[in-house]
Amino acid sequence: MAFKNIIMEKKDGIGTIKINRPQALNALNKDTILELSKAVDELGNDDKIKVAILTGKGKAFIAGADIKQMSTMTPLEAKEFAEMGHGLLMKIENSRLPFIAAINGYALGGGCEVLMACDICIAAKSAKLGQPEINLGIHPGFGGTQRLPRLVGRMKAKELLLTGRNIDADEACSIGLVNSTVEDEKLMETVNKIAGRISEKSKVQTDFIKSLVNKGVDIDLNSACSLEISYFASGFSTNDQKEGMKAFLEKRKPVFKGK
Ligand code: CAA
Repeated sequence: MAFKNIIMEKKDGIGTIKINRPQALNALNKDTILELSKAVDELGNDDKIKVAILTGKGKAFIAGADIKQMSTMTPLEAKEFAEMGHGLLMKIENSRLPFIAAINGYALGGGCEVLMACDICIAAKSAKLGQPEINLGIHPGFGGTQRLPRLVGRMKAKELLLTGRNIDADEACSIGLVNSTVEDEKLMETVNKIAGRISEKSKVQTDFIKSLVNKGVDIDLNSACSLEISYFASGFSTNDQKEGMKAFLEKRKPVFKGK
């Protein structure tokens, strides 16, 4: 489908979604959330796509939910808006595809919340991240009060949420909010390299790993380990397991079909 607020590209098993509202620093209004939702579905339903990249055009990844649109919302409209945002983030988190966030600039409020729903996050050195909602007299509405403490711990999360202080990419990396930082001009090259590496793996297994980690952290260790055992066993019904082990024994590179 044709999109207005995003650009989607598919190449060599990698689907790239670029948010394209640079005039509003890629702020998430309802239309953009809907388009992102459709794009995530489309990539997830495309057998040829193995991994997705999410990034922004211009000087922002996403500067938050759209403040102009939110400024006149009633409590009911705010609830519906928050539900839309949560729906999108759950869709990314529950997608069978690994999502890599390429943080090209501001990732604030809803933008920081989007990156926390992704699986790997690489930030340009000049990026700024944070949850500044408190400065607007609100708190995060797309999962920031929940995913941030799960990622960086309660104390650090509360400090960032309560002060509304934005942090630079290196600090974000030091607290575990992003995986690594790179020089600005190297961002897409680095992210594409990681995506390319993942795209060569078994799609069954990238899906299993994402799902096991996401499900496992929210349940007790015994149940989580049982889940791993059952996924491990079902992996042995796939061609990819046979191919991976055969290739090892034959001292060649495996060719995975995702089956
Ligand atoms: N919503 C709507 N428009 C936004 C926006 C946002 N979140 N962030 C930036 N813009 C718009 C600005 O209004 C401006 O538009 P105009 O040219 O029409 O005035 C344009 O983008 C460029 O922005 P600035 O002129 O402010 O750019 P700057 O370089 O001086 O500052 C910035 C950049 C520090 C990121 C600043 O724009 C800013 O503080 N933005 C808001 C960040 C924020 O508070 N995000 C949280 C939003 S609330 C939220 O996300 C709630 C939730 O959890 C669901």
